[in-house]
Amino acid sequence: MTAISPETADAAAILDRVEASLKNDLVPVEIFNDEAVFRAEIEQIFTKCWVFVAHESEIPKAGDFVQRRIGLDPVIVTRDGKGGINVLSNYCRHRGTQVCQTDAGNSRFFKCPYHGWTYSNNGDLVGTPHMHDAYGERLDPKAWGLIRAPRVATRQGFVFASLDPDGPSLDEYLGGAGWMLDLIVGLAPGGMRVAGPPERYRLHADWKTAAENFTGDGYHVDTLHWSTEEVAVSQGLQMTCEIARIYEFENGHAFAGHAWTKAVHPGYVLWGYAPEITQHFNLSGLDEAQLHVVNHEPPTVGTIFPNLSFIRLNTPSVPGGPMSVITSFRQWQPIGPGEIELWNWQFVWDFMSEDEARDSYVNGQFTFGSAGIFEQDDTVAWEGAPRAAQSPWMRKAGMEFHFQQGNNSQVDQSHDPSWTGPGRKRNTGYGEHAQLHFYRHWLNVMRGNTGAGTEGAE
Ligand code: FES
Ligand SMILES: [Fe+2]
Repeated sequence: MTAISPETADAAAILDRVEASLKNDLVPVEIFNDEAVFRAEIEQIFTKCWVFVAHESEIPKAGDFVQRRIGLDPVIVTRDGKGGINVLSNYCRHRGTQVCQTDAGNSRFFKCPYHGWTYSNNGDLVGTPHMHDAYGERLDPKAWGLIRAPRVATRQGFVFASLDPDGPSLDEYLGGAGWMLDLIVGLAPGGMRVAGPPERYRLHADWKTAAENFTGDGYHVDTLHWSTEEVAVSQGLQMTCEIARIYEFENGHAFAGHAWTKAVHPGYVLWGYAPEITQHFNLSGLDEAQLHVVNHEPPTVGTIFPNLSFIRLNTPSVPGGPMSVITSFRQWQPIGPGEIELWNWQFVWDFMSEDEARDSYVNGQFTFGSAGIFEQDDTVAWEGAPRAAQSPWMRKAGMEFHFQQGNNSQVDQSHDPSWTGPGRKRNTGYGEHAQLHFYRHWLNVMRGNTGAGTEGAE
């Protein structure tokens, strides 16, 4: 348990209401666009949880850097001369100016544009203009270096930072989500790499709505994305919930898979990757449950709490066109109440030829790029929640969103007793268990419970 900040104290009444609502599988509207809730999220979630900042393939060489965000803070993720990865706050120690003003590049130094204090790419202060006249002697490079994220760790090349010096290690924090990440991107030596820099676009949406959708909202697919079936980009969307598998893990992470071998044909293993691709895969490191998952019920979407999500689909880039399996990781960057910037990375296998990588990238952009045929549907739908949350009428009416889908359904939504993997698994996409799992964890963290294994009661 950590101390409750003033921001959370302001949001406390709302959190009490969230707790009461969640007991009935409801979520009050105001959490999607509220200044106090937003400030508390930045304070309680983004300064405490492990947050994704970059993939190692974005900074392969000494001197490479990318500028990223942790919550509202700009950070520079660098590869220093010793090969180490640093996550540095992008605020000059002199007056706070952003010392790095570009998205990405290669440099040994960052020189502040205001008065010229200069930092090494490991964060140390290495010089100031007019050192002798201004300061008499050299300033201590460590004492006046850029403030560093206290903890940085990687899993499968994914670099995460935590602004909390204490708490679970990255592997403990990821738990089952790390197990899932291993089978998503670790199937071949060299793993996956980014196909390019992230595409970024602003949405009038709340980061939670997007993260929640990617935990496993199969229910929207045959309505919101029906146009993709009409133009023959998709097939069988009405089966989405029926063939879905929901995987819930500690710390609010959740994934949804699909039983493609049942729905398509028995040979449709490994997401439907073509043999030219699967010949590079080495499944020998997978445990029995992972092998079953990759072959028969592989994850299609997922969210690593708080704001990193994933999607993998076999899709054409034009109706009837050649299929390619796309992999996108996306981050829902909070900008302000009801406002996010969506960062979208297409990933390709490191072994892929230029043509294979291009096909995957193009198909990925066609479906889940900023102008993607699926992406445009989702991002418009998500704008409703913050609009409702801003409405004095809806607040006065006590509007709550309905997450009770599972309560009276005849579909068996119980945990699969034969599941031997981490967390728990359900063999249907009906019910809104993954979303409730996400919001229950959100409430826990907002109240200062960030230890590994915290999980809301069902
Ligand atoms: S603000 Fe950076 S050198 Fe003054
Ligand atoms: Fe969608």
